[in-house]
Amino acid sequence: MDVLCFASRKGGSGKSTLAAHLSAHATRPNRRCLLVDADSQGSLTLWHKLRGTGEPALKNGSRGVAEAVEAARAEGYDWVFIDTPPDMSTVVREAIQAATLVIVPTRLAVFDLAAIKETIDLSRHLRKPYAVVINAAPARRDNTESPFVTQARQMISSLNVPVWSGQITNRANYALSLASGEGVREFEAQSQAATEIGRLWLAIDRSVKAIHGAYRSGGVMHRVAA
Ligand SMILES: Nc1ncnc2c1ncn2[C@@H]1O[C@H](COP(=O)(O)OP(=O)(O)OP(=O)(O)O)[C@@H](O)[C@H]1O
Ligand SMILES: [Mg+2]
Repeated sequence: MDVLCFASRKGGSGKSTLAAHLSAHATRPNRRCLLVDADSQGSLTLWHKLRGTGEPALKNGSRGVAEAVEAARAEGYDWVFIDTPPDMSTVVREAIQAATLVIVPTRLAVFDLAAIKETIDLSRHLRKPYAVVINAAPARRDNTESPFVTQARQMISSLNVPVWSGQITNRANYALSLASGEGVREFEAQSQAATEIGRLWLAIDRSVKAIHGAYRSGGVMHRVAA
């Protein structure tokens, strides 16, 4: 079983958005996924209610993540997606501790980049692989990323922090689909948002395989800029 923890002390960076879309994307009959909502704000719980399908399954983890993850292991889940609150509380620490890979979403504002540092330091301290994902970025034009994204990427890499080579663009679809209880692929399969989530999932899957030593070639987001 593999565990993804979405963490960042910065509010509104995209933790719940990425956890919801990736879990909806990853869920298959032969890939059992579980969401753990460890944030008492309950964003994922609300999405899950709107969704109404029960897939992926959801557990509340706001009073303790380790227990929820252990129960998931016993129940035979393949992947667990943990959404965490925007702070450095015990619950976040427990979620990072339980993770195979920590995903740290960040928007581009300077303040956000400063705010990921504590989350990264905690992941390092707990010896957990982590990667930053640039979220809500300006759209690529003519297949070229915005200079703001390039600059942020360079800045993050210069701190020796792994950052995904792709981006999640600022798109209304990300919010609209969640409001109707869906992931972007279910909402609009051919959309650019669905393509971005698909690419991010592939990069995460590759990284997790590399963490287990099963995949040794390049393109691994938690070690290098994939
Ligand atoms: N790529 C995106 N494009 C458009 N809107 C986005 C994108 N990512 C996030 N948002 C919007 O930004 C807001 C904050 O996102 P989200 O709730 O996922 O952040 P969060 O990190 O979980 O916040 P919190 O720390 O409060 O839990 C939401 O209204 C969401 O719809
Ligand atoms: Mg949230």
